[in-house]
Amino acid sequence: MIEKSFVMMKPDAVSRRLMGPILSRFEEKGLKIVALKLRTVDEELAKDHYGEHSDKPFFDGLIKYITSYPVLTMVIEGDEAISVIRKMVGSTNPKEAAVGTIRGDYGLDTGRNIIHASDAPGSAKREIALFFDEDEICDYSMFDEPWVYE
Ligand code: RTP
Ligand code: MG
Repeated sequence: MIEKSFVMMKPDAVSRRLMGPILSRFEEKGLKIVALKLRTVDEELAKDHYGEHSDKPFFDGLIKYITSYPVLTMVIEGDEAISVIRKMVGSTNPKEAAVGTIRGDYGLDTGRNIIHASDAPGSAKREIALFFDEDEICDYSMFDEPWVYE
C-alpha cells in the first residue's frame, strides 16, 4: 500500500552536512519526496511531537537537542514507506544500528541519532499534520515509476 511517512533530519545531520547524502538514500531507494522544509522547531512543537516521551529521563535533553539548530523536515511517499524507512533508519541506538542503516553509518550516540521517522500509520498521520499544511504536500508522478514498481 502506498503510504506517507514523516521524516526529520535532526540538528546533528544538518550541522554535520549530512543532508545531501541522507536525502540521496531515500531517492536512490525509489521513494518519492513529496514535501521538504528546513526550519527550526520551537519548544512547544518539539514537546508535542515527542509527547509520548514526556515522562522519560531523556525528555529534557531531547527537547533541547531538537530545538537547538535547524532540522530538515520531509514527507516521503512509497509502497509501505513507513516500515521501509524505519528499516533504512535503523535502531534508536546508533551503536547497535546495523551497518548500512543511516544511524548505523553516521552516528554513535542515542542522544545524537541523526534522524527521526514515523513508526506507524497513526503517528505518520499525526506528525505530517503537525509539521505540514496540506497544500505543502505535492501530488505528482515520477517518470521512473514503471521501473520502481512492477
Ligand atoms: P525517533 O522517534 O526520533 O524516530 O526515534 P525512535 O523511534 O527510534 O526512538 P524513540 O524511543 O521514539 O525515542 C525518541 C528519541 O529520543 C532520544 N532518546 N534518547 N538518551 C536516551 O536514552 C534516549 N532515548 C531516546 C533519541 O533521539 C530518540 O530517537
Ligand atoms: Mg519514536
